[in-house]
Amino acid sequence: MTALLASAKQAVLEEILVPARIVPVLTIDRAEDGVPLARALVAGGVKVLEVTFRTEAATAAAKAIIAEVPDAIVGIGTVLNGDDLRRARDLGARFAVSPGATPELLDAAAANDLPLLPGVATASELMQAQARGFNLLKFFPAEQAGGIPMLRALAGPFPNTRFCPTGGVNAANVAAWLAEPNVVAVGGSWLCPASDIKAANWEVITGRCIDAMKTLRKR
Ligand code: 3PG
Repeated sequence: MTALLASAKQAVLEEILVPARIVPVLTIDRAEDGVPLARALVAGGVKVLEVTFRTEAATAAAKAIIAEVPDAIVGIGTVLNGDDLRRARDLGARFAVSPGATPELLDAAAANDLPLLPGVATASELMQAQARGFNLLKFFPAEQAGGIPMLRALAGPFPNTRFCPTGGVNAANVAAWLAEPNVVAVGGSWLCPASDIKAANWEVITGRCIDAMKTLRKR
């Protein structure tokens, strides 16, 4: 069976990311935290979630969220290779996110129907992704790799590329990032820091989401 075309997968990703605006990056250490964390985010109006493959609990947590929180749209992050991509698809994720864009991963994504948002930080990485049909990319690590000035510089030679900046995005700079014309959404961990997850501060997380979404609506 032939995999979906890159353009079709990018269109699916765009449909998920554009209305989301903010995609929380979740690092879940205890599988049982997944469902209450996802419910807290959804209650705050944040429905598209990236569960990172960084912990042993990640797979079980993502599976539980997919099964028990139907309003959440679950993606898998920290996808590093083709095996990770297949694991993400098999557990029912709607999309995948990677910190970088190796040729091996991009080729694996071409053979897999799961839409991938590959990470880039330089013009050369962007060109490698673009050569394989990726025009919607994660800019990572966004603040550390040059922030908004870097993104504006990339917009010159790459006017058709759009980004989901992630890394160093926070309550203070999220509106500025989202105001950039080539930004479709942002990712980040600031809505649900590890300390709040550890302490099961679900209401605090919901409140932070509500505030973030209110700030964005005002603009
Ligand atoms: C990450 O990979 O940890 C994400 O990019 C989140 O970055 P942040 O913690 O700076 O938001």
